[in-house]
Amino acid sequence: MSVLRAQGLGKIYSSKGNVVYKALEDIDLQVEAGEFVGVMGPSGSGKTTLLNLLATIDRPTSGTIEINGVNPVKLIENKLALFRRRELGFVFQDFNLLDTLSIQENIILPLVLEGMKPASILQRLSPIAEMLGISAILNKRTYEVSGGQKQRAAIARAIIHQPSLVLADELTGNLDSKAAKDVMDALKEMNEKLKATVLMVTHDPFSASYCERIVFIKDGKLFSEIRKGGNRQAFFQQILDALSVLGGNFDDVPFARA
Ligand SMILES: Nc1ncnc2c1ncn2[C@@H]1O[C@H](COP(=O)(O)OP(=O)(O)O)[C@@H](O)[C@H]1O
Ligand SMILES: [Mg+2]
Repeated sequence: MSVLRAQGLGKIYSSKGNVVYKALEDIDLQVEAGEFVGVMGPSGSGKTTLLNLLATIDRPTSGTIEINGVNPVKLIENKLALFRRRELGFVFQDFNLLDTLSIQENIILPLVLEGMKPASILQRLSPIAEMLGISAILNKRTYEVSGGQKQRAAIARAIIHQPSLVLADELTGNLDSKAAKDVMDALKEMNEKLKATVLMVTHDPFSASYCERIVFIKDGKLFSEIRKGGNRQAFFQQILDALSVLGGNFDDVPFARA
């Protein structure tokens, strides 16, 4: 079953009716239940724009999106907020945890908002916290834990309500290589054990090597697609090869890390 079906997606940024920038053009993208898909492309290629459209944070100027059979663009504002909260989970580069809450309070927020009973919430929380290796820090505040722990908490928050689709934008962008590895191992485990469907945007080949399939975009258009053949190390090399064909500016991608 397709969790995500995007067809002919386009995004033109404009100001006062004038076209400012054509950021995306004619993007077709389908993600099946349980998939772990990466979107890669040089800086400015439209990755974040694409994610914002799929996240229903921004609206496409052309094309259609269906998430779990629903076109979110057609929902009115309060239904859209509910749709986003129930169907989607988000992991951002800068964690987006609330500093006034403990790690546990941050993670369970989506369930509290749904009015779930505290006992049921804890039942849902403990196996996830265990898998992510954050059980011991649940009562800490966000400023008392490391970046990698924060991001694993953010992953827990993104999946605890069992969304149809987890969307991540450069989730290892603010982490050192050890923390990035822990976070990617954690996300992979959520994908394999809990069957979470993940779409992840990244310009980092190491993080991308955890995906099963990668879609490359260039200048706002689909460029190519690769699937994991062998192990992660082999896929990392496949990714580097695909990136060298793609060209473009990847800023300071740590090409030597895998
Ligand atoms: N709000 C906006 N208004 C005008 N141009 C934008 C806006 N947001 C992004 N862009 C432009 O769209 C292009 C794609 O941006 P983005 O999706 O952030 O790329 P990426 O995430 O791949 O680096 C860039 O050239 C960027 O400058
Ligand atoms: Mg971006």
